[in-house]
This record gives sequence, structure tokens and C-alpha cells, in this order.
Amino acid sequence: MIAGHRGARAVAPENTLISMKAAADAGATWIETDTQLCEDLIPVIIHDKSVRRCTNGSGSVRHKPLNELKQLDAGSWFAPEFAGATIPTLTELLQASDDYGLSLNLEIKVHYEEEVELQVRKTIEAIQDYGFDIDRLILSSFSYNAVKHCLKLWPEVRRGLIIEDWVPDIARLDEKLDLYSIHLDHHLLNKTLAKEITDAGKVLQIWTMNDPKQVDKFTRWGVSTIISDDPGLLISATKK
Ligand code: G3P
Ligand code: MG
Repeated sequence: MIAGHRGARAVAPENTLISMKAAADAGATWIETDTQLCEDLIPVIIHDKSVRRCTNGSGSVRHKPLNELKQLDAGSWFAPEFAGATIPTLTELLQASDDYGLSLNLEIKVHYEEEVELQVRKTIEAIQDYGFDIDRLILSSFSYNAVKHCLKLWPEVRRGLIIEDWVPDIARLDEKLDLYSIHLDHHLLNKTLAKEITDAGKVLQIWTMNDPKQVDKFTRWGVSTIISDDPGLLISATKK
């Protein structure tokens, strides 16, 4: 399965609702997207700690209230025709996922490890207040503590740990997290590791893989989901 990374960030400004629609239009049924808190403790959808790269503003997301974030243009940095796109709230993202028929791998992007519990709590509250379908949701994070808090605060939700360097002993790791999935930087993956992860009963996802020529190999190795910037390109490769 091919999932859209930050929507479809190869063709639309990442983490905007336009990007989510682009992923759906390209045939993706899952998207991966990043959430963090703004000053009002409202979860919003943006990757970096700062708004600089993906908007016309500057400063940290966590120190701006939502009404200020909503003034920013989150589209024209990518291309002029996307001018006026805004940073979505998590609630808006959930609504768009329903509208476009998308399932959601929501990455809890922890820029402030010291307040990780607050961040996880606010994120889960927003999802539960909205009433998003738990069967179409995975909560994932690079932060071990974020995943641990997800287990504590919402044991029923599927949890994924994102891994970007060495791969710890899967069984030991799982003792405290009860993981559904492991989300690995695809550069780390080989056939043996893929077998180890799938033999441990964990769903294997890889990111960020944009090469259509490698889809078959990873699928043979037991990868269940390839997270890609250009889901349309990879989906067309699977149809050849
Ligand atoms: O969820 C996998 C992937 O998105 C992790 O890396 O930096 O793109 O959020 P990043
Ligand atoms: Mg991410």
C-alpha cells in the first residue's frame, strides 16, 4: 500500500488540505501528516518547529496563537497557484480525511520533549472530540515517550514507533509500547530486518520512499505501507 507523505508533498504544499486532496486524487487511501501544538494548545498540522520554511511568516509554531497562524500563507512558498492555503488544525484535517475518504497515520511531532504528555493529551482529546473512526487511525511518533503516553491515555488506538537510526531489539521495545507498527527509514531496511520485524508480528511501514523501481522489492520483503511524497507516481508503478 502506498501512503501520501504530508499529503502529496511532491505536487502540493505539504501538510495543507490541498495536499491531502492531491493524495486522495492520486489514489492514496492513507496519508501521513505531522501535528504539534500552537500557543492555545490546539493541535495544528505542520512539520517544522518554525513556520519559516512552509509559510510567509517566521517564529515558532508553539509560540503563536491559532488566529496568528491562520493569517499565514502556507501555499505560495511552494507555487503561486497555492496562495492562500492555510495551516490546518487537526480538527480540520480530520474533517478533510472524512471528506476525501482517507485513513490517517498521524505523526505526533514532538519538538518539546518536556511537555510530551500535554501534547499527546491535547492531540487525543481533539481526535476523540471530533469522533474520528479509530479503525482508520494510527498514531505514530519518533518519541518513545509520546507512544507510551498514547498507550496510557488511549490503549485502544493503534500505535507506531518511527525509527531513523539503529533498530532496537523489537521484543524489548514492544514490552512497554505494545506497538501495532514500526515505521522505518527505508535506508535502514534489509531483508533480514524486514523478516525480524514481521516475524515479531509488527506491521512494517517505510518512509520516505519515492522510487517506483523499488516498490516490488520492498513489497516482497513484507513492507505493508510505503510512505511517499508522490503517491500517484508509486501507485502507477504498482499497476504496471
Ligand atoms: O512518519 C514518517 C516520516 O514522516 C518521518 O519523518 O521528518 O518526514 O516527519 P518526517
Ligand atoms: Mg512525518
